[in-house]
Amino acid sequence: MTSQAVGDRPLRVGVVGLGWAGQSHMTAYESHPGIELVAIAGREPDLRAELGGRFNIEAAYESADSLLEHPKLDAVSVATPTFLHAPISIAALQAGLHVLCEKPLGRTAQEAASVVQAAARNDRVLDVAFNKRGRPAVIALQRLIAQGRLGRIYYGRAHWLRRAVVPPDGSWFLNQEAAGGGALVDTGVHVLDLALHVLGEPRVSSVSAVTFAELGPRGLGRRPVTLDLPRKQMMGTGFEVEDFAAGLLRFDDGGALQLECSWAAYQDSADSFGLELFGTEAGARLEIGTADPSADTLSVFGEVAGVPAKADVPRPPASTVATGSHADIVSTFVAHVTQGRPADLDLHDVLSRSSIIDACYLSGRSGQQERVVPGSELLSAG
Ligand SMILES: NC(=O)c1ccc[n+]([C@@H]2O[C@H](COP(=O)([O-])OP(=O)(O)OC[C@H]3O[C@@H](n4cnc5c(N)ncnc54)[C@H](O)[C@@H]3O)[C@@H](O)[C@H]2O)c1
Repeated sequence: MTSQAVGDRPLRVGVVGLGWAGQSHMTAYESHPGIELVAIAGREPDLRAELGGRFNIEAAYESADSLLEHPKLDAVSVATPTFLHAPISIAALQAGLHVLCEKPLGRTAQEAASVVQAAARNDRVLDVAFNKRGRPAVIALQRLIAQGRLGRIYYGRAHWLRRAVVPPDGSWFLNQEAAGGGALVDTGVHVLDLALHVLGEPRVSSVSAVTFAELGPRGLGRRPVTLDLPRKQMMGTGFEVEDFAAGLLRFDDGGALQLECSWAAYQDSADSFGLELFGTEAGARLEIGTADPSADTLSVFGEVAGVPAKADVPRPPASTVATGSHADIVSTFVAHVTQGRPADLDLHDVLSRSSIIDACYLSGRSGQQERVVPGSELLSAG
């Protein structure tokens, strides 16, 4: 465990990116007693002025480069388009700052590995904003699995299927070079992270995957125009990425996980996010609601005296658990910086998400099952 205490004073942070994600980091930092939010950066002058005023921030810069020169910073959040995650995170780490980076850490596993290497070389904390992990029902499921209540889990399904959330036309999300992919690398990475996290980080050896862009390029699957939508940074005009992806992931131990995600899909539910797990002692189904963690459900299925049985698992009381929001990841980040990063928090696990996604895209193109490159291999190559 490396200790990164900053003494008795608050941790001084900056946020790069003024969109939905950057504002979520700002809100979380503002309400954390151990944080002083001192600088923000982003291209939009009106947002710089508005957010600078709202969060009472002393310095608002147009670029990440300028923010990184701010003399008072201990740490930064990186909440920019994905192609900038690695270069900005690496520059921050090299400047001696701790980094909380938005997901995905990079467009590719190699890019993500370069950030992990920079964190290790500069002995700084690097966390990635997987903010779904702290939801009470997720924590309850993770505990059941860790206690062995499901037995050996041999198969699972993980999905985040959304009916109509294609990002705005012309935004960087639809640009392959800027985003590194579509629904899979954007939202699929959340449910992939959740599945691997609750399963105790099994190693995925290979994947067979498919990607589709059937609705998005035809102008379908957009959010209703009546909604007040957050604006996105614009970059290009084409629809270059997938709006639907699915894959079968094989684990080293012989188990498997089916992964499905979409920005656009003709289905009943507007937003369906969950895990189904099949174990030798019991099965479990976790369903995650949209914004409100109290709507999440967790059920366990087994057999009592030869009769199928189902139990709805009560969630831990809200006061004893985190809420599954950016406030959680910010709290965890601050704890890592001030108290040291737990030794069992392995950055190879962070890399595994990117390696699996790389292999999914490769498999989608090749039509073959593809090997997942282990994090250790990526790091030794860099
Ligand atoms: N964890 C989550 O739940 C979650 C949710 C939404 C988005 N995200 C992630 O957050 C990131 C940002 O997404 P968003 O929707 O907020 O995007 P956005 O387009 O709304 O905002 C991007 C911001 O980055 C700024 N920016 C771009 N280049 C910059 C530079 N060189 N220096 C400083 N600022 C720069 C832009 O000015 C803009 O303010 C993405 O990686 C996305 O995947 C995560």
